[in-house]
Amino acid sequence: MNTSVEICGVKMKNPVTTASGTFASGREYGEFIDLNRLGAVTVKGVASKAWSGNPAPRIAEVYGGMLNSVGLQNPGVDWFIENDIPFLREYDTKIIVNVCGHSEEEYVDVVKKLRGADVDLLELNISCPNVSEGGMAFGTDPKTAENIVREVKKYADKPLIVKLSPNVTDITAIAKADVNGGADALSLINTVNAMKIDIYRRKAVLSRKTGGMSGPAVKPIAVRMVYEVCNQVNVPVIGMGGISNGEDAIEFIMAGATMVSVGTANFTDPFATIKTIEGIEAYMKKYNVNDIRDIRGIV
Ligand code: FUM
Repeated sequence: MNTSVEICGVKMKNPVTTASGTFASGREYGEFIDLNRLGAVTVKGVASKAWSGNPAPRIAEVYGGMLNSVGLQNPGVDWFIENDIPFLREYDTKIIVNVCGHSEEEYVDVVKKLRGADVDLLELNISCPNVSEGGMAFGTDPKTAENIVREVKKYADKPLIVKLSPNVTDITAIAKADVNGGADALSLINTVNAMKIDIYRRKAVLSRKTGGMSGPAVKPIAVRMVYEVCNQVNVPVIGMGGISNGEDAIEFIMAGATMVSVGTANFTDPFATIKTIEGIEAYMKKYNVNDIRDIRGIV
């Protein structure tokens, strides 16, 4: 049985990675799971300098998932290079670096600093809804998205994945623009703009008022978007949004995804990634699928 997949020449032992922002660099989860089992670890967004993120409260539970407005808190690219890359390189897994910024210059700065670094793929985060500058502001207009992808791509020495926002009318227009700009692969979806109100305190639950929703309730939206994008562009797609088990993952793969990311599920079940890998294998065994590629995009 073959579960290995390839994204832009990088071979992964299975199609499961982590969704950026839910797994940091994997240290916390490494106490529960064997990181060697993962196809790749996609790390939390890395910026040119350390950011403290948004004020609390920045997390809220909702039916079917959660809201976050973390604001891309991170220790900065220099710290990441010095500490997280050596940590992750102790494991037999690929490293995907989520790159974030407030401006084009900041994105470029991170990518320049990662030149020559021992990582496998870069994921350009132009879809975070929780920052006033950068993030989703770059990823919801096709022309702006194409321009920033083109600029960042000039400096990238690893294949460039672009992470898409679902907060658009037509996600295929953004996907095509990113590919025109030079994206080697796409990942989707980031979180869905959302809000929760505490009716007893008569105020928004999140300090920033709105945030991004993730978790099982967004899965059908994500599957639809992955399906639409896979039918419109000719680059590999990493699908995510509410994946908690192998059956969820198989849905995304049948919609056309080459890889899948497990995100919010990690917070309630630190074994979710491993269960997803084992669930994919169990499905393949039960339904005589010899190669994961045989079911990719079959819907
Ligand atoms: O607020 C955050 O840190 C979320 C990031 C993202 O959605 O990419």
